[in-house]
Amino acid sequence: MAKIIDGKVISAAVKEEVAKEVAELKAQGIIPGLAVIIVGDDPASRVYVNNKKKACEQLGMLSREYTMPAETTEEELLSLIKELNTDPEINGILCQLPLPSHLNEELVINTIIPEKDVDAFHPHNVGKIMIGNYDFLPCTPAGIMEMLKYENIDITGKECVVIGRSNIVGKPMSMLLLHKNGTVTVCHSRTKNLKEVCLRADILVAAVGRANFVTADMVKEGAVVIDVGINRLENGKLCGDVNFAEVEPKASYITPVPGGVGPMTIATLMKNTLTAAKKQNGAK
Ligand code: GUN
Repeated sequence: MAKIIDGKVISAAVKEEVAKEVAELKAQGIIPGLAVIIVGDDPASRVYVNNKKKACEQLGMLSREYTMPAETTEEELLSLIKELNTDPEINGILCQLPLPSHLNEELVINTIIPEKDVDAFHPHNVGKIMIGNYDFLPCTPAGIMEMLKYENIDITGKECVVIGRSNIVGKPMSMLLLHKNGTVTVCHSRTKNLKEVCLRADILVAAVGRANFVTADMVKEGAVVIDVGINRLENGKLCGDVNFAEVEPKASYITPVPGGVGPMTIATLMKNTLTAAKKQNGAK
C-alpha cells in the first residue's frame, strides 16, 4: 500500500505562505500581478487558465486574462506581450501552451522578458536552471520537488527515471533531480528497453501524456511514483499517465490524478509571481 501524496494539502500549505507574503507586500503598496494569455479554445487550456486566475484572486494578487481568438496573428500576440513587458502592474506573464500551430511558440517564449517569465521557459532562465543559479523554476517540476521535500523523500544517490523529455516538464525535471544528487535517466519515445530502465527507478516520474502508460510490470517494489499526466478519457474522466490501480500496491508513495501534481503547478506559479513582484520592486 502506497502513501498517497496529496497535492491539494501540500499546495494549500505553499499558497498559505505565498498569501502571507502577498499581504506583507500589499502593506508596502505592492500588488503582485499576473497576466495570463490564452489563444484559441482548447478546453484543457481553458480549465488550467481558469484555475490560475482563481488562485491569483484567492491569494490577493492581481490577475489579468487575455483571451485571444484562434486566428490571432503572431504580430498581434507579440505586440500584446511587448505591451505587458513594460506594464508596471504586471510582474508575471504566462502564455498558455500549446498555441495554435501557425504561431511560433519559441518566438513567443523568447519575447517575454526573463524578469516576467514566471513559467521559466525563456532560454535565459533555462540556462540559469542548468547552471543551478536561478530566479524561477518551471512550475510543474518545481511543484514535484516541493512534494518530495514535504514527504521527506531523500533524492541523494537515488535512481531517478523521468519518462518524457519535454521542455516544460521532462528536461527541467531531470535537471532539478540532478541538482539534488539523484542519478537521473531520461526516457522518451525512442528509448529501447523502457520497462527495464523504469524498473531501476527509486523515483519514477511519468510525463508522457498517455493514459495509463505506466503499468505495474514497469515499477520496482517500493518506488516513489509521480504522475504528471492529465488525460481525459472517452467517458470524460481524468486519468494520469500511470495505471494507478495496478501501480499503487507496489509503490511506497504515489501521486493521484486529479489532486496530485496539478495543484502543485499552480502553487508554484503563484510563488514565481510573488518572486517576480519582489524582485521588480526591490522588496525582500
Ligand atoms: N501548458 C501545459 N503546462 C503549461 C505550463 O506550465 N505553462 C504554460 N504556459 N503552458 C502550459
